[in-house]
Amino acid sequence: MMIDLIGGGSLGLLYGGKLAAAGADVRLWCRTPEQAAKLASRGITIRDADGGTESQAKAGSFFAGPLEGFAEAWTARPGRWILLMTKQKDTEEASRMSAGRLASGKRATDHPPGVVCFQNGYGHMEKLEKLLPGWPLYAAVTTEGAKRADACEVVHAGAGTTWLGPAGREHARHMEERPEELVQMLQKAGFSAVLANDIDRRIYRKLLVNSVINPLTALWNVPNGELLASSERLRTMSMLLQEALAVYDASGIAWEEDIWDQILEVCRATAGNISSMLKDVRNGAETEIDWINGAVIGLANQAGVRAPLHELMVGLVKGLSIREE
Ligand code: PAF
Repeated sequence: MMIDLIGGGSLGLLYGGKLAAAGADVRLWCRTPEQAAKLASRGITIRDADGGTESQAKAGSFFAGPLEGFAEAWTARPGRWILLMTKQKDTEEASRMSAGRLASGKRATDHPPGVVCFQNGYGHMEKLEKLLPGWPLYAAVTTEGAKRADACEVVHAGAGTTWLGPAGREHARHMEERPEELVQMLQKAGFSAVLANDIDRRIYRKLLVNSVINPLTALWNVPNGELLASSERLRTMSMLLQEALAVYDASGIAWEEDIWDQILEVCRATAGNISSMLKDVRNGAETEIDWINGAVIGLANQAGVRAPLHELMVGLVKGLSIREE
């Protein structure tokens, strides 16, 4: 069962490394040929939080290549699963580039591949459904904590759970192709992986967590736990959450009564962590704000209501990345 993993960031290295170490047939596609070359010669090292070696995928035990070669290699030898672990924008770009070739390869195989999206936020699945019509699309929500140390090394900062399930409008159609085999392979690789029938609910829940924690940690330049440090910060978080919940109510999306406590718990459990959005801001990289708070605004627009605080978050976070020359 060949698994194509797209993205050589922290999640790509973590999943690719552990899957390859467990004997899975892995092809890891990364943005730069330089990283692909390093991975091909050094393999992947996964460190635990104390710096010890958690697992090691030796060079040669998996294939590493630059993303531009993916569609051609896939058409020559189609894989069974495609795990998308890039940012939303890169995912869209890769799918657009590959869509035609992959679709012709798909017709040539008996088993159409399952595509699993690991991104935060909401909205990218709908775009993928349009780019890859009729493809079995799945979403994954994960609480794994990983930090890339260099091109070939990642620190597994905190073990979490990965929920995987068919998502989006095509939901019902793909229920028969439930991804047990992938979940089992992930479990064999040491992940706590669970097949979820309610992945949409988990995506909407994570969107609430991310739409509160991510922009505020980015704006205040603090680790997640610091959000709990003052009543003003807690009040700002609560205002953002209340506005998002009103949007959910207007959209008919259910939410859990204890969501506020859940958000506080995420801040406690990941107290020393830098959120992905703050990390992007610090690295001068594009953030996921359009897919997180922008997604809340999108839902508000569809429901005919406003989400001015989330609009403010989008404006302020985007403003952070404008640097003076
Ligand atoms: O995006 C992130 O960084 C994470 O989803 C979360 C939950 C905010 C923890 O850092």
